[in-house]
Amino acid sequence: MSKSKARYTIPAGWIVAVAPSVVHYNSEIYENPLEFNPWRWEGKDLQSPGSKTLMVFGGGARQCIGSDLARLHLAVFIHHFVTTYDFSVVQECEICRVPFPFFTKDLVINISLKSPS
Ligand code: HEM
Repeated sequence: MSKSKARYTIPAGWIVAVAPSVVHYNSEIYENPLEFNPWRWEGKDLQSPGSKTLMVFGGGARQCIGSDLARLHLAVFIHHFVTTYDFSVVQECEICRVPFPFFTKDLVINISLKSPS
């Protein structure tokens, strides 16, 4: 979309909603947005409310109150998951990314305890 102010007619009864994933997959904000890159947010404006580069926890007056707790839990979970288990994809499946990311069918993965080294 161009940066000029666009005019739209929204039919009566329609619901208008923000699709945060559109921001997160915007290649003008994130280089190679589909690449796995945990450092993609480094140097970006992550301050809320009002960040236009990270909207996973919403923004404005309804900003997620549990975002710090969620981030902490995810960091602890991912650490234990990758250090305790081996995992591999058994059956790939397509990811739909808009309006939010979801698997179109079951993503089958094999998980086993890492053998002691
Ligand atoms: C990865 C985990 C989470 C994600 C992605 C997430 C995402 C969001 C989003 C997008 C909103 C804004 C909804 C809106 O605009 O109406 C929201 C609101 C909220 N979240 Fe979360 N959330 C997460 C975890 C949590 C946790 C762990 C808690 C509580 C311990 C929590 C409590 C809340 C509450 C109470 C609100 C409503 C805030 C308000 O309306 O004033 N969330 N969350």
